[in-house]
Amino acid sequence: MTYRSKSIYKLSLVAVICFIKASSSSCPVLECWFVQEKAGRGGGLAAATSQEKSLLHIRTDAYSHSAESQQAPSDINPDRVYFITDPAATLCHRSLNPPRGSVNKPHCEINPFLPQPSTLKWVAPLTDSALSPIYLQADWFSTSIQGLNKQLAISTITRAPTAAQEPNVILSVTSKTVSVQSRLGEPVLLDCGFWADPPSPLSGSGFAVEWRYQFRGDGRLVLAYDGKTDRLADTQEEGATLDFEGLHRKGNASLILQEAKVRHSGMYICTVYLPYLVAQVAVELEVVEPPSLSIYPSALPLAVHGQTLTVQCEASGFAPLSLELSWEFKGTDGKSRPLGSGSVTGHRQAWDGTYSQSTRLELDTTKLDLGRGGEVTCVAVHLGGTRRASVTLNVIGFSTPSIEDSMAMVGVALVLYGLIKFVSWTFTSSGSDEAGPQEKKDK
Ligand SMILES: *[C@@H]1O[C@H](CO)[C@@H](O)[C@H](O)[C@H]1NC(C)=O
Repeated sequence: MTYRSKSIYKLSLVAVICFIKASSSSCPVLECWFVQEKAGRGGGLAAATSQEKSLLHIRTDAYSHSAESQQAPSDINPDRVYFITDPAATLCHRSLNPPRGSVNKPHCEINPFLPQPSTLKWVAPLTDSALSPIYLQADWFSTSIQGLNKQLAISTITRAPTAAQEPNVILSVTSKTVSVQSRLGEPVLLDCGFWADPPSPLSGSGFAVEWRYQFRGDGRLVLAYDGKTDRLADTQEEGATLDFEGLHRKGNASLILQEAKVRHSGMYICTVYLPYLVAQVAVELEVVEPPSLSIYPSALPLAVHGQTLTVQCEASGFAPLSLELSWEFKGTDGKSRPLGSGSVTGHRQAWDGTYSQSTRLELDTTKLDLGRGGEVTCVAVHLGGTRRASVTLNVIGFSTPSIEDSMAMVGVALVLYGLIKFVSWTFTSSGSDEAGPQEKKDK
């Protein structure tokens, strides 16, 4: 074997091994920001934070050491390299494992976490005994991760025996609907699920779920459920509910809204509490409804050339607000051209929160080159889709001749000219024939 073929052979062997490794373990190594409040700088309104690069090796059991053989990059402090065991494999979702060399990476942040009892009415019963177990004395972290293409949001609480750098996932909260769009009036499902490590003394002694709504800094409670006493502690939103059976059986904490309304658009935060622990994910809902268009008058009167007609187009029942209205004209030649946006009015909001807006177009049959008429169309471009409505325009009377018209006129002129020539020729020739003998007779 030559040197060259040997190295090709080696290269392909390495490639095959890499391929086998990559396909056998799909749990990612996550690049993550380790963010913590800076020590010894109390008092400030915005606590100063420090940010360090960190690396999270994910595995599903503590005995799979394959990931550990990898060398940590030199720009990462070895103290910030963690080996996280996630028995539920939630962190092994493919949206957290981008192809090697990909520019898009999952967003990840890890922070130190301090377990503590909650004073919220629907959470407090979880820590009734007021005795903090020794189990809490460990290194706790909270991580928040967003997968690629808004496929997934995960928040976990992990625990590591002090200074061991090998945390275990104790609680994870996940959403697979990070960004939801819904039509008006349709039922909406905002996904949220949680998993609690069964051997942990904190699982099995109850949980609580809370959904909050947030829009432009304004927040409100949607629903709070005390899983320990199986009671809805608070509901402030009509038609909002949970699947209680799925919640207890599979940790399905998804929020069900019976009917999407415009005011439901905003951010929803799903928070799950275990005794001393809390984790949350955010889901965005946008209620999108395209406009309905109507044109007035619905049939245009016959326009005499020189006259100006007014057409109005009203777009109604749409949400969100942003809408682009314009006009188009399609002549008898089949070509479309824009007529601008007309004069667009301000928007109005209806009782159900949807908007309406209209535009008025002046059709000046002398200025606009409208020919003998065609189709006038109102176009509304909206997030929910583009809508069109048209009326037919007929113009009578003088109109600037089209090319076909001019050619026809030239043709007609030529034919007329020929006819006149022919007639006058036959007339003059026959006239002279008849006149000849008569003249001779007269002589
Ligand atoms: C959670 O419950 C809802 C409502 O019953 C259901 O539509 C959804 O599929 C469930 N999700 C999972 C992951 O089981």
